[in-house]
Amino acid sequence: MGPQARVVFFLVFLLQVLAEPAEDSDFSLAGDYLLGGLFTLHANVKGIAHLDLLQVPKCKEYEVKALGYSFMQAMRFAVEEINNHSGLLPGVRLGYEMVDVCYVSNNVQPVLYFLAGEDYFLPIQEDYSHYVPRVVAVIGPDNSESTMTVGHFLSLFLLPQITYSAFSNKLRNKQSFPAVLRTVPGADHQIEAMVQLMLHFRWNWIIVLVSSDDYGRENSHLLGERLAGRDVCIAFQEVLPTPQPNQRVTRQERKRLEAIVDKLQQSSARVVVLFSPDLALRNFFREVLRRNFSGVVWIASESWATDLVLHNLTELRHTGTFLGVTTQSVPIPGFSEFRMRHARARPPTSNKTSRRATCNQECDTCRDTTESFSTTLTLSSQRGAYNVYSAVYAVAHALHSLLGCSQTSCPKEVVYPWQLLQEIKKVNFTLLGHQIIFNQYGDLPIPLEVVQWQWNPSQDPFQSVASYHPTRRRLEGVRNISWHSPDSTVPVSTCSKDCQPGQKKKAVGIHPCCFECLDCLPGTFLNKTADEFDCQPCPDNEWSHRKDTSCFKRRLAFLEWREAPTIAVAMLAALGFLSTLAILVIFWKHFQTPMVRSAGGPMCFLMLVPLLVAYMMVPTYVGPPTVSTCLCRQTFFTLCFTICISCIAVRSFQIICVFKMASRLPHAYGYWVRYHGPYIFVAFMTAVKVVIVVGSLLITTTRPTAYADPDDPKIMILSCNPNYRKVLLVNTSLDLLLSVAGFSFAYVGKELPTNYNEAKFITFCMTFYFTSSVSLCTFMSAYKGVLVTILDLLVTVLNLLGISLGYFGPKCYMILFYPERNTPAYFSSMIQGYTMGRD
Ligand SMILES: *[C@@H]1O[C@H](CO)[C@@H](O)[C@H](O)[C@H]1NC(C)=O
Ligand SMILES: *[C@@H]1O[C@H](CO)[C@@H](O)[C@H](O)[C@H]1NC(C)=O
Ligand SMILES: *[C@@H]1O[C@H](CO)[C@@H](O)[C@H](O)[C@H]1NC(C)=O
Ligand SMILES: *[C@@H]1O[C@H](CO)[C@@H](O)[C@H](O)[C@H]1NC(C)=O
Ligand SMILES: *[C@@H]1O[C@H](CO)[C@@H](O)[C@H](O)[C@H]1NC(C)=O
Ligand SMILES: *[C@@H]1O[C@H](CO)[C@@H](O)[C@H](O)[C@H]1NC(C)=O
Ligand SMILES: *[C@@H]1O[C@H](CO)[C@@H](O)[C@H](O)[C@H]1NC(C)=O
Repeated sequence: MGPQARVVFFLVFLLQVLAEPAEDSDFSLAGDYLLGGLFTLHANVKGIAHLDLLQVPKCKEYEVKALGYSFMQAMRFAVEEINNHSGLLPGVRLGYEMVDVCYVSNNVQPVLYFLAGEDYFLPIQEDYSHYVPRVVAVIGPDNSESTMTVGHFLSLFLLPQITYSAFSNKLRNKQSFPAVLRTVPGADHQIEAMVQLMLHFRWNWIIVLVSSDDYGRENSHLLGERLAGRDVCIAFQEVLPTPQPNQRVTRQERKRLEAIVDKLQQSSARVVVLFSPDLALRNFFREVLRRNFSGVVWIASESWATDLVLHNLTELRHTGTFLGVTTQSVPIPGFSEFRMRHARARPPTSNKTSRRATCNQECDTCRDTTESFSTTLTLSSQRGAYNVYSAVYAVAHALHSLLGCSQTSCPKEVVYPWQLLQEIKKVNFTLLGHQIIFNQYGDLPIPLEVVQWQWNPSQDPFQSVASYHPTRRRLEGVRNISWHSPDSTVPVSTCSKDCQPGQKKKAVGIHPCCFECLDCLPGTFLNKTADEFDCQPCPDNEWSHRKDTSCFKRRLAFLEWREAPTIAVAMLAALGFLSTLAILVIFWKHFQTPMVRSAGGPMCFLMLVPLLVAYMMVPTYVGPPTVSTCLCRQTFFTLCFTICISCIAVRSFQIICVFKMASRLPHAYGYWVRYHGPYIFVAFMTAVKVVIVVGSLLITTTRPTAYADPDDPKIMILSCNPNYRKVLLVNTSLDLLLSVAGFSFAYVGKELPTNYNEAKFITFCMTFYFTSSVSLCTFMSAYKGVLVTILDLLVTVLNLLGISLGYFGPKCYMILFYPERNTPAYFSSMIQGYTMGRD
């Protein structure tokens, strides 16, 4: 025999001496099959002296717990009903043995009592499969800690144990607790219901207070896990001090409680979740009352959600709103009367024999205390009693099928606990409209309810305000909760006020729930589903206002036909085109006349044709730019222009040459004439220009690009080249050079005969070209927008007009209106006059 077995044996022996059922008590009922019942009729906190003294704790020395007594009555009622019920276990009489476990103090002794046989002897044997203990199943105990202690023992014998209010998730572990079942869902459902309640009311800044035991630790851990990633933050968590067994407040405990209430008062959080056994809360709430602390939403865990003693502290109503999570209330018909009848018809307290005094099957004051809470119990429909009731019925149904009962009779065979356990796991029946069927963890997923504490004498003290279905994992039907807040509205418990749409959050401190709100700047927007902490930039072609939640398409700006300036410029260009065409025809007609020849002869056509082409390019400036129109604008247009300018420049040069170079450098002049110098020059300049244009095309791009209007970001300017100004500078530099050269030659030859004297016009054209190009570049550096395009076009058209009308216009005028001057004779006289004048 090992030491453990020896202890067991000793305790069994002790029980044999101490425990004998009291025939006339509530605690036992003789029957063919006995059920064990473990209830908390008295409650005390842990860690008390009897463990040191090897004494069985005397529960009746502790405070009475009326709810536990009510649960015990529920078991008695269920057994009595089953015995009365003809359909279930006909002919079989169920009995029970119930023991007060006084919360956690007295667990082991009752278990040994249940496991022992009729002779109070628990044999040590190798195989218990044919062992028949005193009871076939155990109902209870209530809290998780005792359930686990008891479960460790009973599971060794596979004796079925059905607890009616232990929520701990550890009990789901079927390796450790193969024989433990429960008529409540697991703790994670309770936590989930709480979290969903918080989310429903948008409380994201909460305080968690826990007891310093496993219950507090386990549940706060579960809550922390559930809140991760749910946008609810814990402002702080505090551990409540463990009260003294006699509930007297020590100085240390008072200081601790004061500190906690101080912290509660200072926090902006208005929701307090309390995970603690009811006993550890009395002193805390007394301190809360003493400090007149109010305006809080207290969220009660199942351990104290329906606690009668705390509820009887009626001043608590002034401290705020009490919400609690507990199991669904199922009224049991006849139970209320049963409970009252027993309370009234209690037998006179007989003096128990002293040898039974510690068996904890007695409670002298239970009935009185329960009677004093009777109204509350009745109004709340004995919330929780159904869990006990259904546990007893589950055992009865299992027993019924294990024995193979018919409608009228049952064979009273020997029942081994492990057989019964298998049957209990399989039960499937309906009880008062609810299906009783245990899931694979041995849990009964019955709905939970969120209750609000009420103190209205005619109302259910624990009024249901919402329900939670474990299978659906959803909080449903949140009804009108009467908030005990200054203006009866839902209390706000957030670290920071929610941001307005289009405001990003800027975290303050470590909690994601605490933040400042900052407007998203223009050009950025907030996509709440993607990121609440950062404004995202709008796509390139879109824009947003300050505090926008989306972007809008920017208006594209480009030169349009319907605008007045466009029409004006287009008409100018048309005029230029037509007049140039006319000039071309006139020159063609009078090709052989001296006027045309003096103007350059064939070279005139070299100028006129590119001018015509350039005029035709004007429409490419209007409308949204495309690759081809950009190519036209940036290449052909300037190319045409360059040909014209270089022709003019070479013309000016030639006028000087005719008179100066011919006499001074006859050789060079010979070459110039022989090799068609002017054409070579024009071709060379054109080639240089082509190189420049192609080079700039290769370096930059011809693809139209859009950029935001710096003055109005809602507008997107479509332009051919983002570096338009640089391109323009490169393009015009050669033209400028040529125009300066033309201007200089013209200036030198200004006193030539008037027929040859284009100097005035060339000067005018070149000056205009030079100044307009320079001012256009200056304007572009200061301003970007559609105006640049139209100005660019206008300047170009004016320059073209300047050339076609300024250069060719007077000559045409002469040809048409002074044909007498367009004769070789007249020209010779003019030249003679000039040479004579010079001499
Ligand atoms: C069981 O039957 C007895 C006798 O008929 C009756 O007094 C008692 O109230 C019944 N109990 C229940 C719970 O139905
Ligand atoms: C609480 O309120 C009562 C009366 O309203 C007052 O007498 C008491 O001093 C207050 N206590 C505190 C701590 O403010
Ligand atoms: C409930 O509280 C009242 C006053 O606070 C007290 O008189 C009464 O005894 C309490 N009831 C019980 C059952 O403790
Ligand atoms: C119970 O015993 C005490 C003394 O032990 C005695 O005073 C009392 O009268 C007895 N009560 C009854 C009901 O016998
Ligand atoms: C339980 O019983 C009901 C009705 O008798 C049946 O519909 C259901 O399928 C059963 N459930 C299981 C898991 O056997
Ligand atoms: C909730 O509202 C219903 C009607 O909408 C009303 O009958 C009931 O009294 C209200 N309950 C509470 C607690 O205010
Ligand atoms: C916001 O972000 C989500 C997820 O990234 C995306 O599905 C949605 O289209 C976005 N909405 C806008 C307006 O960009």
